[in-house]
Amino acid sequence: MATMTGQTALSLEVQSFADKTIASHQGKPGALLGILESMQERNPHKYLSTEVLEYVADKTDLPLAQIYSVVTFYALFNLEPQGEHTISICRGTACHTRGSRNLLQRLRLELGLPDMGEEGADKVCVTTPDGKYSLRTVACFGQCALAPVVEVDHVIYGHMNEQTLKRELEHLGHGGKRA
Ligand code: FES
Repeated sequence: MATMTGQTALSLEVQSFADKTIASHQGKPGALLGILESMQERNPHKYLSTEVLEYVADKTDLPLAQIYSVVTFYALFNLEPQGEHTISICRGTACHTRGSRNLLQRLRLELGLPDMGEEGADKVCVTTPDGKYSLRTVACFGQCALAPVVEVDHVIYGHMNEQTLKRELEHLGHGGKRA
């Protein structure tokens, strides 16, 4: 955490990366988004820690609240450490109509994640306790003609079904049901 004296728990290496990133985005449109994206990408667990957000706020002279509102607005930013593999399921109307809810339930079961009932069907962002898989939902990938759409480690799969999903999980090294 940054202190009154400007000290932070961030390593010198991360500070130096942040300084360079901030400098390279200075004066450019969308600078804050670019800075946050680079900082997240650099983190091995693909997330933005409180310390990073405070450091960026400090160095860019932007209010921390403004940075938080950006990070929480864009689905691409994470405030928690992410799993080694990320599986994102579209919960938009077209994908819902074509069975994305069942895919989500199937994945929860496969990964041993708790069923959160109706409430948990639309907004999910959860990581398995072993840190291997992150499961999340998105509002729409913009690929509705391919519904239902699932993204596995940044690769989009259209017309997804339970068998293909299971196969993809096996490719990622997942051995079977944990529940
Ligand atoms: S609703 Fe799923 S891609 Fe648009």
